[in-house]
Amino acid sequence: MEKLNILLAASEVVPFAKSGGLADVAGTLPKALHQLGHDIRVVMPRYYVVDKEKFGLRLLEGELGVPMGPMGEIWCAVYEGVLPDSKVPIYFIEHEGYFGRKELYGQDGESFTDNDNRFIFFSKAVMQLAKKLRFRPDVIHVNDWHTASIPVLLNSVYAHDPDFAGTGSLLTIHNLEHQGKFYKGAMDVLDVGWEYFTHDQLEEFDGINLLKGGIVHADAVTTVSKKYADEIKTPGFGWGLDLIIDFHAHKLYGILNGVDYDEWSPEADRFIPSLYSLHDLKGKAECKADLQKTFNLPERIEVPLIGLVGRLAEQKGIGLLAATIRDLLELDIQMVMLGTGEKWAEFFFSDVAAEYPEKFGLYAGYRNDLAHRIEAGSDFFLMPSLFEPCGLNQIYSLCYGSVPIVRATGGLDDTIENYDAAGASGTGFKFDFATPEALRNTVQWAVDTWYHHREDFDQLRRNGMEIRFDWQVAARAYEEVYKRIHEDRQMTSLLAGKP
Ligand code: ADP
Ligand code: GLC
Repeated sequence: MEKLNILLAASEVVPFAKSGGLADVAGTLPKALHQLGHDIRVVMPRYYVVDKEKFGLRLLEGELGVPMGPMGEIWCAVYEGVLPDSKVPIYFIEHEGYFGRKELYGQDGESFTDNDNRFIFFSKAVMQLAKKLRFRPDVIHVNDWHTASIPVLLNSVYAHDPDFAGTGSLLTIHNLEHQGKFYKGAMDVLDVGWEYFTHDQLEEFDGINLLKGGIVHADAVTTVSKKYADEIKTPGFGWGLDLIIDFHAHKLYGILNGVDYDEWSPEADRFIPSLYSLHDLKGKAECKADLQKTFNLPERIEVPLIGLVGRLAEQKGIGLLAATIRDLLELDIQMVMLGTGEKWAEFFFSDVAAEYPEKFGLYAGYRNDLAHRIEAGSDFFLMPSLFEPCGLNQIYSLCYGSVPIVRATGGLDDTIENYDAAGASGTGFKFDFATPEALRNTVQWAVDTWYHHREDFDQLRRNGMEIRFDWQVAARAYEEVYKRIHEDRQMTSLLAGKP
């Protein structure tokens, strides 16, 4: 396989800045691609939270000029580092005005009002950085709406730039709900020409839709599970883009995310009080007791403990859970929840915690160590998402022996096999309909299995702990897509008589 030059741009990357699974993917996939021999480099914004000292970032010599339409050229600095435990270079675009903020995308539940300028700026800076580094990417791999204008830039203002001769683009959709929709004035800043402001490119209801532009202009589009790739072609999951996605379905692929087992494994987790494995689960009982203590719940080994970790957003099914949680808490169970997001949910679930202090615990905030401890200390892990492009927590919980209870959608459906009592096969409990009743019945089913079919529960737990979702598998699938993009671009250049 020919070694390729890949430039991966993302708005968040672990361990530097993270709000969700995108950061896990952007920080781990490149390492797997590097191991396959590709020259892959990563670019992200230098937010205030990115600690330059801690990560030993070095300032690159010379500033980077970024053309911003009517605002003229805006200058920024670039820092360089590596992804931890690897040789993968990562570059940080530093601009105090745009990124010198504590939060990544917004504050107090409101998006920053200049997110269009911030991420158009970042996208253009990625292009300018490639030139500055004299790095000629075969493929620029962009992620979600924040960097979705790059494929448009590549096909317009940079189309005849020799530094990008033969460069193709891949857009990965991690979440279709967020599309980067702004007032059309952002077209001036993007500065690709108003001929791109058409219904089959960037225009939508007289505004600009950056993700739509990316879908249309990218050489290929991937989503993070096969099922989600199918779902987004339908009105129920398409967020208004289903028709356009269906039209471009010939270049759409579903590639399931992997797991960074160096970070997420009960055999080597630096955050949990006791390590354990499939062959020796003793430590898991200690993790459970520790978790119960942390949330001030009675330390009862015999009661099933259900964990939840995630953004408190509608996507995650928190509305369904809110509608039925009081019924669930009538069962002999315990639940712990870690999440932050919609304020109503934080208030609602903290009221529930006050009402059921012996059964329900909430930590409203973002805490990575606690996320690990919940994975390890729980018996079940609940993800009742309305939609879920991939979902990482249910995959993590498989490996921690916390049996997932999930809605059969997107990556949740692709990664969890439903329990079948005949033969005790499966890895979790699934429900189809997004209703409080279906959620309640399925939790009841899981709890009943815990209390009355304990051998089956133990078998499910073992089944899950045996499965691996390695990044190498995903990296090979991405490699195939990159290769296809590269070959198509080469062919196009050849036909056009370009070098
Ligand atoms: P999404 O990207 O939609 O939020 P994923 O399941 O793909 O969902 O990934 C979520 C990631 O973010 C996981 O690694 C999870 O542990 C982490 N996470 C989400 N919320 C929190 C939180 N409140 N505290 C710590 N980690 C969190
Ligand atoms: C998104 C999705 C989530 C996915 C993650 C990483 O945030 O909501 O399902 O796992 O991206 O791809």
